[in-house]
Amino acid sequence: MTDRLDPLLRFHPFTRLNGLLQGIEPGEKPILFSLGEPQQTPPAFIRPLLDRNLADWGRYPPTGGTPAFRAAAAAWLERRYGLPAGLLDPERHLLPTAGSRQALFLIALATVPEGTRAGGRPVVLMPNPFYHVYAGAAAAAGAEPVFLPATAANGFLPEIDAIPKEALARAAFAYVCSPANPQGAVADPDYLKRWIALGRKHGFAIGFDECYAEIYRRQAPPGALAAAAAIGEGLEGIVCFHSLSKRSGGAGLRSGFIAGDEKILRRVAQLVNYGGVAVPLPIIAASTALWQDEAHVAANRAAYNENFALARRLLGNRLVATEPAGGFFLWLDVGDGEAAARRLWAEAGLKVLPGGYMAQPGADGRNPGAAYIRVALVHDRAVTADGLTRMGRVLQSIALEAGGKARTAGAAPAIGG
Ligand SMILES: Cc1ncc(COP(=O)(O)O)c(C=O)c1O
Repeated sequence: MTDRLDPLLRFHPFTRLNGLLQGIEPGEKPILFSLGEPQQTPPAFIRPLLDRNLADWGRYPPTGGTPAFRAAAAAWLERRYGLPAGLLDPERHLLPTAGSRQALFLIALATVPEGTRAGGRPVVLMPNPFYHVYAGAAAAAGAEPVFLPATAANGFLPEIDAIPKEALARAAFAYVCSPANPQGAVADPDYLKRWIALGRKHGFAIGFDECYAEIYRRQAPPGALAAAAAIGEGLEGIVCFHSLSKRSGGAGLRSGFIAGDEKILRRVAQLVNYGGVAVPLPIIAASTALWQDEAHVAANRAAYNENFALARRLLGNRLVATEPAGGFFLWLDVGDGEAAARRLWAEAGLKVLPGGYMAQPGADGRNPGAAYIRVALVHDRAVTADGLTRMGRVLQSIALEAGGKARTAGAAPAIGG
C-alpha cells in the first residue's frame, strides 16, 4: 500500500540523523549542535505572570487568545515593520498559535483544495533545502511538493522567475522562509513583493515563515506584511508566522502567532479547534508581556552574534566565508555532509545535521544540501567555544585529507566556504 504519509518518515531529518549515528560512540562529551533549540531561558519577568494566572491552568484556552495578546502582537508587528495604521485589525488579522510549527502544518490543510487544480494534483511550493514541516504538511494535505532550489548560486533564496509554469498553474500554497533555515539568507522587500504579486496572479496563498526575524547580524530583516503594505492591496493570500521560540528563547512555551488574511486564519482556527492545541491562558499572559519587551530580545541577539564571532575565529575564514545575515545556523560546505556528521560525532562528540537531510534531490538528481552540515549555534559562549574548537580540529583533518586526495587527482580541495 502506498501511504500519503510515507514522506513524513522520509523527510524527518532527526530520525535520519539518529539512524546515521546509531551504534557510533561519541568521541567526547556530547554537544548537540543539531537541533535549533535555543538554550537560553526566557526572561524571569514572566514567572509572576504564570503564577498570577494559576486558575487559568484549569480552563480550556480559547483558540483566539485574549484581546490583550492580539493587541500586543499587532502593536509589535506595527513597530517592528513600520506598518501603516489600519493595515492590521488585531481582531481579524491575528491568531495566537502554539509555536509556529503547528500552524505551518495546518495551513497546508487550510489552503490546499480537494481534487485537482489546473487538471493535476495541487502543488505546494517550497525552498530546497527546507524546514521539514513544509514537506510533511504538503504530504498530509495530499499536495505535490515542488522543491525550488535555494543554493549558493542564487543567494540561498529560490529564484522566482525559474519556477516551472506548470507548477505555478497548479500551485495552491507556497512557503517562503526569511531568514531562511538552514542558510540564514534574508529576503529584501522587492523579493517579498514579487512573491506576493506572483501568488495573487496565479491564485495561490503564501506563508511567510519569519520565525527567525529577530535573530540577525546587522540589519533587521524586512517582513512580508510591510511588503504587502507597500503594494497597497491588503492582506489577501498572505500569512506571516512569528514565534517566541527563537526571539525570546522560549521554545518550551509553544507560543507564536500568525497574521494576515482573515479567511485563511479562520480556517486555521477551525483546524485548531478540531485537532490542534490552543495556547494556554497563563502562557498567553506571559507572551503578551514578551511581545511588549525588546530588552531581552536584544540580549539574545547579542549572544548569538558573539557565537558567530567565535565561529569565525575558531573555524577560520575559509569555512565561515560569509556570515549568514539572519538566524543562528552555520551552513558549512564540507564536501560530504553525512560523512562529516559521522566523523564529528565519532571523533569529537558533536552532533550536527547533514544538510542533505533537509533537502530532496532536484531535477538534476543532486541533493543541494548533500555537501553541507547545519550547525545550530544555540549554546552559551563556553559550550560554543568548546564545541567549535573540537569542530575546527575535525574539519581541518577532513580538509587536509580531501586536499591530499585532490592533489593526487589534480583537483582543488573539496572543502570550502
Ligand atoms: C524555519 C522554521 N520555522 C518554524 C519553526 C518552528 O518553531 P516553533 O514551532 O518553535 O515556533 C522552526 C523551528 O526550528 C524553524 O526552523
